[in-house]
Amino acid sequence: MNIAFITSEAYPFAKTGGLADYSYSLPKALAKRGHSVHLFLPRYYCVDKHRFQCTLIGEPLAVPIGNGIRWAGIYYTTYLDDVHTYFIEHDDYYGRDGLYDYNGVAYNDNAERFIYFCRACIEAMKQLAIAPGIIHCNDWQTALIPLFLKTHYIHESVFQKAKSLLTVHNVGYQGVFIKEVLQLMQLPDNLYNSEHIEFFGNVNFLKAGIVYADYITTVSKKYAHEIQEHEYGYDLSTVFKSHNKKLFGILNGVDYEHWNPEKDNLIPHTYSITDLSGKHKCKKALQEFYGLPKNNFPIIGCISRLTYQKGIDILINTLDWLFFDEKEVQFVIVGSGEQWIIERFEALRAMFPDRIGVWWGYNEKLAHLIEAGSDFYVMPSRYEPSGLNQMYSLAYGTIPIVRATGGLDDSIEQFDEKLTTGNGFKYKNNDSAELYTAIRYALRVYRNNFLMKKIINNAMLFKRSWDNTAKEYEELYYTISKKYQ
Ligand code: ADP
Ligand code: GLC
Repeated sequence: MNIAFITSEAYPFAKTGGLADYSYSLPKALAKRGHSVHLFLPRYYCVDKHRFQCTLIGEPLAVPIGNGIRWAGIYYTTYLDDVHTYFIEHDDYYGRDGLYDYNGVAYNDNAERFIYFCRACIEAMKQLAIAPGIIHCNDWQTALIPLFLKTHYIHESVFQKAKSLLTVHNVGYQGVFIKEVLQLMQLPDNLYNSEHIEFFGNVNFLKAGIVYADYITTVSKKYAHEIQEHEYGYDLSTVFKSHNKKLFGILNGVDYEHWNPEKDNLIPHTYSITDLSGKHKCKKALQEFYGLPKNNFPIIGCISRLTYQKGIDILINTLDWLFFDEKEVQFVIVGSGEQWIIERFEALRAMFPDRIGVWWGYNEKLAHLIEAGSDFYVMPSRYEPSGLNQMYSLAYGTIPIVRATGGLDDSIEQFDEKLTTGNGFKYKNNDSAELYTAIRYALRVYRNNFLMKKIINNAMLFKRSWDNTAKEYEELYYTISKKYQ
C-alpha cells in the first residue's frame, strides 16, 4: 500500500516526546512489511541537512495561505532506509530553535505554521505525484489535512483513492486558535459551527481532524474509551462519542533495536534475562552518576516531560511521605519541562540529598542508564495515551509502578504474589496515598528474592514490537480502503 505519514516530529530528526519515537518506528515497521511509506516533516533548524544527507528535489513549491502563496522547498533523504523522508523547508516558520515553543512559551504564529505545513504536504504530494491510499496524520499539527482533502482538494485526481486516518496521541493538546485563522486556511465561514470546527468561540484543529478524518485512532484501547468520558476528553468527549464508530485504539510498541539491554551501547554493561549481573553494575553506575551512596537500596527511576499530565506533583507528595517512613530507598529522575515542578522537586531533594538524584534537561544516554540501573520505574500519570517508558522498563527488567490509565493499564498487569503472575504494580486513582501503597507493596516484593526474580522474569518476557503495532494499523488501513471503495 502507498502510505503518506505526516507528523510534526520524528526521531532522530526532531523530538520532544513519544510522538517522535512513534513517527520513527511505525513508518519503518510498515516499510519492512512491504508498504511504500512517505514520511513528511517540517525542516526545523535542528534537522541538519548535511548530517541527514538531504537533497533539494522537485520545483519550488507554491503553497496557498491567507491572501496569497508562500514558497517552500522540499528536501528528501533516505536516511531511514526504506522510508522515503521529505522535509518542508520554509525558514520563516521552521528555522527556529524550538519545535513549538521557545523556553516553554508557545510561538504566537503556531496556527499559521501548521496550517502552512498541512497545505504544503498536500501540495508536495501533488507535485511529486505521490498518490497515497492512506494519509496518516498525527495530532493537532497535522489534523487539518483531512479537512483540506475534503474541501480544497476534493476533485484532485492524485487523491481520488486517498483515505485519511488521524491518530490522536494526546487530547490535552488540541490547537485552539481565534476564528480569524479561518482566513489563513482559505475556508468559508460556514464551516465555523459546532458540527464542524468551531469550539467555544474558537477554531479547534484537532476537532477538525476528528470530524473530517475517515478514521481516527488513539494509542491504546483504554485511552480510546477514556477520551469519550468527560474527565479525559478535555471538552471533546462528546465529539469523540459522536464519531466513535470510526474510533479505534492501537497500542504503541517498543523499538527493540534501541531499547534492548543485551545490545544497548548507551549503557556501561549489557545483560540478559538469564544473566542480570550487568544490571547490578548499571545500578552502581547510576548511583555514581547521581552521587548517591552505592548501596543495595532499591532505586526508583523516572524519565519524564515535566507537565501536569505526568503527575510528577503527585509523586513529590508521595516521596515526601515515603522518605520519612522508609529509610532504605533511592530515587532518580531525568526530566525537562515546567519550572514549578523543578522547584518543588529541588525542595524535596534538599531534605533528602543522599537519597534523591535529579538531572534537569533532555538526556538520552541517561534515560537508558535509568532504565537499566533502576529496580523500579514510576509513572504517576494523570492520563497516559500510550506511554513508552513503562514498556522500555519491562524490557530492562525494571518493574513499572503506574497509574492504571490509558496505555499504562493496557500494558501493565498487576503482580499477584500467590500466582506469581503480572509484570508491575498499578493503582487506580490520581492520589498520593494510592501511589504510596503501590510503592510500599513494590518495596516489600523487592525484599523477597524469590518474588523479585519472578516479577523481573515476567517483565522481561513481555514483548510488544512495532511490528505487532504495524500489523494492526495495516489491517485498519485495508478496512478503511475497502469500506470506501
Ligand atoms: P510523552 O510522549 O507523553 O512524553 P512517552 O512515554 O510516549 O511520553 O515518550 C517519552 C519519550 O521521551 C521516551 O522515549 C522517553 O525516554 C523520552 N524522554 C522524555 N523526557 C526525557 C528526558 N528528559 N531525557 C531523555 N529522554 C526523555
Ligand atoms: C503522547 C502521549 C504518550 C504516547 C506518545 C506517542 O505524547 O503522551 O502517552 O506514548 O504520544 O504515541
